[in-house]
Amino acid sequence: MERLVFTIFVTALHILTPGVSSASSSFNVMNYGAVGDGRADDSAAFLKAWEAACKAPSRNPTLIIPEKKIFLLNPVTFSGPCNSTSIYVLMSADIVAPNSKMAWNGFHINRWLAFTNVNGLNIIGSGTINGRGHAWWSNPCLHKVPKALTFYGCNGLVLKGIRHINSQRNHITISNCDDVTVSNLHISAPGTSPNTDGIDISGSTNVRIRDSFIGTGDDCVAISAGSSRINITGIECGPGHGISIGSLGAGENDKVEEVQVRNCTFKGTMTGVRIKTWQGSVGYARKISFEKIRFIRADSPIIIDQYYCPEGVNCKNETSGIKISDITYSSISGTSITDKVINLSCDQNVGCNNIQFRYVYIKSTVPGKKAYCSTFNAHGNYTHTRPVVTGLLP
Ligand SMILES: *[C@@H]1O[C@H](CO)[C@@H](O)[C@H](O)[C@H]1NC(C)=O
Ligand SMILES: *[C@@H]1O[C@H](CO)[C@@H](O)[C@H](O)[C@H]1NC(C)=O
Ligand SMILES: *[C@@H]1O[C@H](CO)[C@@H](O)[C@H](O)[C@H]1NC(C)=O
Ligand SMILES: *[C@@H]1O[C@H](CO)[C@@H](O)[C@H](O)[C@H]1NC(C)=O
Ligand SMILES: *[C@@H]1O[C@H](CO)[C@@H](O)[C@H](O)[C@H]1NC(C)=O
Ligand SMILES: *[C@@H]1O[C@H](CO)[C@@H](O)[C@H](O)[C@H]1NC(C)=O
Repeated sequence: MERLVFTIFVTALHILTPGVSSASSSFNVMNYGAVGDGRADDSAAFLKAWEAACKAPSRNPTLIIPEKKIFLLNPVTFSGPCNSTSIYVLMSADIVAPNSKMAWNGFHINRWLAFTNVNGLNIIGSGTINGRGHAWWSNPCLHKVPKALTFYGCNGLVLKGIRHINSQRNHITISNCDDVTVSNLHISAPGTSPNTDGIDISGSTNVRIRDSFIGTGDDCVAISAGSSRINITGIECGPGHGISIGSLGAGENDKVEEVQVRNCTFKGTMTGVRIKTWQGSVGYARKISFEKIRFIRADSPIIIDQYYCPEGVNCKNETSGIKISDITYSSISGTSITDKVINLSCDQNVGCNNIQFRYVYIKSTVPGKKAYCSTFNAHGNYTHTRPVVTGLLP
């Protein structure tokens, strides 16, 4: 009888905690000294729990961040590699940033929370990460503001369900990672908060971002140098600056290819889908498609800008440029608050090649007002598109 009860208990434990093979592979931060009152510094407890989970030889060790608590974390880096080929973080609580910039004394100002070189990392849960960015948003010096959550060199990364609000600078940075799946995130910050990008991807391959809401003060998603095979689908973006490839060309030989942006909605965004490059570099952006996109009162919905120069200083015409080719816009509809709805401003030397438009219908929000395209040195073709892309060269 006793044996039967025990068997049922163990079975129930397996059913209730999928992926957790036994109690000894859970590492609850409360057991490592975390307080969770939103005031005490819980960084050291989190690091101890992480080290234990990371060293565990078991399959799927799990760091538990329990619900109904608020954990205050100073700048922390959770480093790998770990012993297990996969590691879970069950994120059910609120994590808040320090209120004071003083907390960064002795730490790199560039980041708040970071995971480095952890393979098979799965962060799952309905908890909230709050960067408490207000204190930083008036800082004019971008490089002295932390990015909220950084993943560096994390292959096989899964990020699912969490809410992420009011980051100091960029919310999520994915850098030098391969095989990443991000889904069901809710990322938000005021439309006026500077440089609070939703998700930034650089130097990464095989990245899937889907079914998420992103409304911030800068790009919802930005894809920059060294990234390829990136699929973005089911994103509701706005407020924000839309989904951007780039800016490219600030570095040497920047390359981005095989990007698919599909089934996304842009609501009240400043720019919609954009490719931006600086002059005077070499590299390319190619095989990029934007498909099944809806614009609701977007400003400047479709842009290729090869003269990117946000500060407007030292931007003379150069003789080289990033090559842009094989870009497809298809099944796109909606409204723009400006009448220039498509602006393809390609490099005067390298131009843009094989730009295709199919079933693209963008109207002005003002009934009866005509919408226009503007193109410079862009080559390609169009069909079933309004406004017509006059000026597109063969
Ligand atoms: C974890 O891995 C390290 C090096 O990879 C090894 O030295 C250590 O014994 C392992 N620890 C356990 C508990 O398996
Ligand atoms: C992106 O989607 C296409 C299908 O549209 C698929 O063939 C490809 O494998 C996907 N890439 C990734 C990284 O999931
Ligand atoms: C398109 O994205 C929306 C979220 O914006 C999602 O609810 C819907 O299921 C997606 N449709 C397809 C066909 O993937
Ligand atoms: C750069 O070249 C473009 C295209 O030829 C031209 O419209 C623009 O005026 C030039 N800008 C400068 C600063 O020379
Ligand atoms: C198109 O983009 C170029 C490059 O940013 C800019 O100089 C130009 O003014 C834009 N054209 C229109 C009509 O907005
Ligand atoms: C546009 O150009 C591509 C590549 O050359 C070609 O495959 C496609 O059939 C063309 N479409 C139209 C509508 O001419």
